[in-house]
Amino acid sequence: MNKIKAAITGIEAYLPEYVLTNEELSKMVDTSDEWIMQRVGIKERRILKDKDKATAFMGGEAAKKLLAKTNTSPDTIDMVIVATVTPDMAFPSTACLVADYAGIKNAWGYDVSAACSSFLFTLQTASSFIESGKYKKILLVTADKMSSITDYTDRTTCVLFGDAAVAMLIEPTTQEVGVMDAMLHIDGSGKDHLNLKAGGSLRPASHETVDAKMHYIYQDGKAVFKVAVSKMADVSVAMMEKHNLRPDDIAWLIPHQANLRIIDAVGNRMGLPKEKVMVNIERYGNTTAATIPLCLWELERQLKKGDNLILSAFGGGFTWGAVYLKWAYNAK
Ligand code: ACO
Repeated sequence: MNKIKAAITGIEAYLPEYVLTNEELSKMVDTSDEWIMQRVGIKERRILKDKDKATAFMGGEAAKKLLAKTNTSPDTIDMVIVATVTPDMAFPSTACLVADYAGIKNAWGYDVSAACSSFLFTLQTASSFIESGKYKKILLVTADKMSSITDYTDRTTCVLFGDAAVAMLIEPTTQEVGVMDAMLHIDGSGKDHLNLKAGGSLRPASHETVDAKMHYIYQDGKAVFKVAVSKMADVSVAMMEKHNLRPDDIAWLIPHQANLRIIDAVGNRMGLPKEKVMVNIERYGNTTAATIPLCLWELERQLKKGDNLILSAFGGGFTWGAVYLKWAYNAK
C-alpha cells in the first residue's frame, strides 16, 4: 500500500465585515494611499470591531462553515490545532475555545505560535499526526485578531495588519497528493527585530508596560525586510531543487502576504511568471497566520487535483519555511 499522506480536503474562511481603507488610516496617522501602495501593496484590510469577540470567534465561525460545507459531523473530528499569535487568553488555548464554539466534543488539541509562519508549522504538525495513521480528521484553524495588538498611532505598523480566520480539514490519503515535503526553520536571534514585548512571563502587564505601549507589535521593518526576502527565497528555491521542480512544474507559489515587494522578489528568484504567484495582500493586508490559507480559500475553485503548490512564509521569531503541497481535489 502507498504511504499515508496528509491532504487538505476542505477550506472555509471568516472575514470581519469592517473594511479599514488607506484613506481612513491617513486620517488617523501621517500616511497616504500612495506610500502604502508603493512600499507594501495594501489597499484595505478587515477589522473585527466587536470588542467582545476575538480570535476564537473568528476561528469558530470559519470552523462551523467548514463543517457544514464538507458535511462533516463535529463528533468525527480527532484533533483541533490553532495557529495564532493573538489567542483570546494565555489559557485556555484557543483550540479549546474553537472546539467548544463548533460543537467538537471528541477531540484533543492545542495552539501553535510561530507568527507569520504558523500555517506552515501547523500544516507540518497536522501532516505528521495524519501520517502516523492514528488520526483521520484534523481541524486546522489559522486565525489572528491583529487589530488587538496593533498601535493605531504608529504609522510604521498600523497600515500593515488585518484580522481573519481560515479553517481547513486535513485527512489521510494514499494517492500521490497532499503534503509532499516541508522545510522549516527557527532562529531566535531575530527576536529583537519583531516582537510583542510585554504580557508574557518576562514582562507581565503593569502600568509601566501599558504606558510604554509594550503590548503592541514592535517591528524594525528594514531589518526584517532584508532577512525575509533572502530566507523566503532561499528556502523556496531549495524546495524546488530538492524535488527537481522547474518553474513550468509549479502551478502556484502561494507566499505569505506581508509585502508585495517581498512576494515579487521571491517569485523572481524562483523564476516564476507573475501569473503563477498568488497575491491578495491588496484586500486583506497581513493577517499573520491566515494569509496563505486565505489565498488557498480564494483560489479553491481554480486549483486542480495534482497541482504543484509551493507555500512559503517568513515571520517573527524569526521563523520561516516552505511546504511542497500537491492539491488534493477539484472543487465542486
Ligand atoms: N506612511 C508613510 N511613511 C511611512 C510609513 C507610513 N505608513 N511607515 C514608515 N514610513 C516612513 C518611515 O518613517 C521612514 O521615514 P524616514 O526615512 O523619514 O525615517 C520611511 O517611511 C521609510 O521607512 P522604512 O521602514 O525604511 O520603510 P520600508 O520601505 O522598509 O517599508 C515595511 C516598511 C513595509 C514595514 C517593510 O520594511 C516591510 O515590509 N518589512 C518586512 C515585514 C515582514 O515581512 N514582516 C514579517 C512578518 S510579520 C509577523 O511575523 C507578525
